[in-house]
Amino acid sequence: MRTPWTTGSATIADTVRRALRRTADWIDIQWSLLDESLRAVAPAARGRLLDVGCGEKPFEDCFRSHVASYVGVEHADTFTATAAGQRARADVVYSGGTLPFRDGAFDTVLSIQVLEHTPRPGALVAEMARVLARDGLLILSAPFQFRLHEEPHDYFRYSPHGLRRLCEDAGLQVVDVRQQGSLWSVIGHKLNSYLAFRVARAGGLMQGMGKLGHEAPQRQRVRWWTLPAVGLGTVAVAAAARTMDRVFFDPEESLGYLVLARHRAT
Ligand SMILES: C[S@@+](CC[C@H](N)C(=O)[O-])C[C@H]1O[C@@H](n2cnc3c(N)ncnc32)[C@H](O)[C@@H]1O
Repeated sequence: MRTPWTTGSATIADTVRRALRRTADWIDIQWSLLDESLRAVAPAARGRLLDVGCGEKPFEDCFRSHVASYVGVEHADTFTATAAGQRARADVVYSGGTLPFRDGAFDTVLSIQVLEHTPRPGALVAEMARVLARDGLLILSAPFQFRLHEEPHDYFRYSPHGLRRLCEDAGLQVVDVRQQGSLWSVIGHKLNSYLAFRVARAGGLMQGMGKLGHEAPQRQRVRWWTLPAVGLGTVAVAAAARTMDRVFFDPEESLGYLVLARHRAT
């Protein structure tokens, strides 16, 4: 039975959970930069949107208000091994090398941190181009620097030139490239990953907060006694990395890139 007290404590627990999640997202420099770059381009999305390799659709809320429909597609070979796959939020799961949609079916194709997980990225970008309407927009983000994850399905990292080449080979033209952070974000992110995963072993804790859905379920026991120092340390590193990126921006280092591409005019 719900009483005012239980309703109140549920609300307090939810508020605390949301505040912890917001703090964890802020400390996670890669997540913050990715989120920032997606929010900046989301107003260009429209019509029917396909999220290729959607996982738990963590960025759906950035795009939802700009599009008429949001469909998430996943690949059976990789999805089932992830924590997200066990919580299953994909609308369509396919096997093989062909996206199960007709040519030109979508006005916007979105793919976030997926290209590193397919052994044939050229074929996947060609499929994205096939299902993209002639006047549609591809929004593609991929990491340039990131630790090993979703092993053994972790095959590549991408420079902006590599992403441009993949798009051009698929008959698309890149119209914008956005860098996600610079040298200090790379250093800060790697340091914070070490503190969180190796020192505090907090992977399972983060999955409990709804993060890291793209990883296999994390079963290591958290080292609770390290959390106060790791918490303070990661906040300090994230703050310093953001400041240094602003003051000493390095155009040759980045955590990743986001490209926008359209069909080449014929
Ligand atoms: C790092 S996760 C990213 C998930 C989600 N886009 C996000 O930003 O959280 C990579 C996802 O790509 C999916 N994937 C890998 N190869 C794929 C393919 N050929 N087609 C569709 N999804 C694929 C994996 O199953 C996995 O869920």
